[in-house]
Amino acid sequence: MEMTRDALLNQKGGVAKTTTTLHLGGTLAAAGRRTLLVDLDGQGNLTTALKVDRLHPQGEMTLARAMLEGCTREQARSMVRQHSENLFVIPSALDLFTLPRNLYSARSSEHRLTWVLELLEEEFDHCLVDCRPALEVDTDNALTWATAVLIPVDVDEFSIEALELLIGQVQTLATEARIDPPRYRGLVINRIDRPFSGFHQKVYDALHQLPLPVVGEIPLRTAVAEAKNKGKTIAQYEPRSDVARMYRDLAVKAGYLPETTAS
Ligand SMILES: Nc1ncnc2c1ncn2[C@@H]1O[C@H](COP(=O)(O)OP(=O)(O)OP(=O)(O)O)[C@@H](O)[C@H]1O
Ligand SMILES: [Mg+2]
Repeated sequence: MEMTRDALLNQKGGVAKTTTTLHLGGTLAAAGRRTLLVDLDGQGNLTTALKVDRLHPQGEMTLARAMLEGCTREQARSMVRQHSENLFVIPSALDLFTLPRNLYSARSSEHRLTWVLELLEEEFDHCLVDCRPALEVDTDNALTWATAVLIPVDVDEFSIEALELLIGQVQTLATEARIDPPRYRGLVINRIDRPFSGFHQKVYDALHQLPLPVVGEIPLRTAVAEAKNKGKTIAQYEPRSDVARMYRDLAVKAGYLPETTAS
C-alpha cells in the first residue's frame, strides 16, 4: 500500500485541525496502520498534545532546516519520534516560525516539504500534516506534497467564506507550482453542540450543501480535550466513547479504512 499523503488545512484558526490530526491519527494507529503525524506549526500544539519534546535547531535536524538546507534519509529519520504503537510524529521546532520568511526567496520554494517527506514514504501507511492557520509558503508546501486535503471546519458563518479562499489558493498553487492539485477528502465538522440555535442550524445546513462532501461530524466533548491533556489519542483514552466511534466513522468515510472497521 502506498503511503497516503494528507494535509489538514484551513486558514481559519481554531477549527480543530490539530485535534483532528491527533485523533484521526490515533484512530488509524489503533487500526494497525503505521501513521506519521507532522507538526508544521511553530506553535507546536500537536507536539504538546502528544507530550513529545520539540526538536532543537541547535544540534538536531528540524523540519525547517531540512526544508531549507536539504537532508539525507538518515537525517529525515532522525526527526521522527514514536508516541505509541504505530503512532509517530515529526515534532515542531521554533525555527518553523521563521521558515516562511527564509523560504520565500528559495528556488522551488513550494517543493521543499515534498523532498523531505518523500524520504520517509516507505516507512508509513499514512502521513497527516497539521498546518498552521495560514495560506502561505509553508502551507503551500503541504499542499504541493499532499495528494489529498482534509478540511476541518466549525459551525461558524466565516467557515463558508474561508473555504472559498482555501479552494482558490489550491487552484492558484497548482497552476503556479505546476502540480496536479490534491483531491479533497472532504470536510470534518467539529465541536458540534446540539441542540443548534437557528443560526447554527443554518450554517450547518450550508456546510452540507457545499460541493465538498462532509466526511466527519465530531461533537463537542470534554473527553477530546482531556485526552490531549493526558498526552493520549481518544482511541487510547476512551476507545468506547461515542466520539471515538465518530473518529472511526470519519476514518472510514474519508477512505482511510475499509467499511468493516466501522462500529
Ligand atoms: N470535539 C471537540 N470537543 C471539545 N473541544 C474540542 C473539540 N475539538 C477541538 N476542541 C478544542 O478546540 C480548541 C481548538 O482546537 P485545535 O487546536 O485543534 O484547532 P486548530 O484548528 O488546530 O487551531 P489553530 O488554527 O490555532 O492551529 C482546542 O482547545 C481543542 O481542545
Ligand atoms: Mg492547530
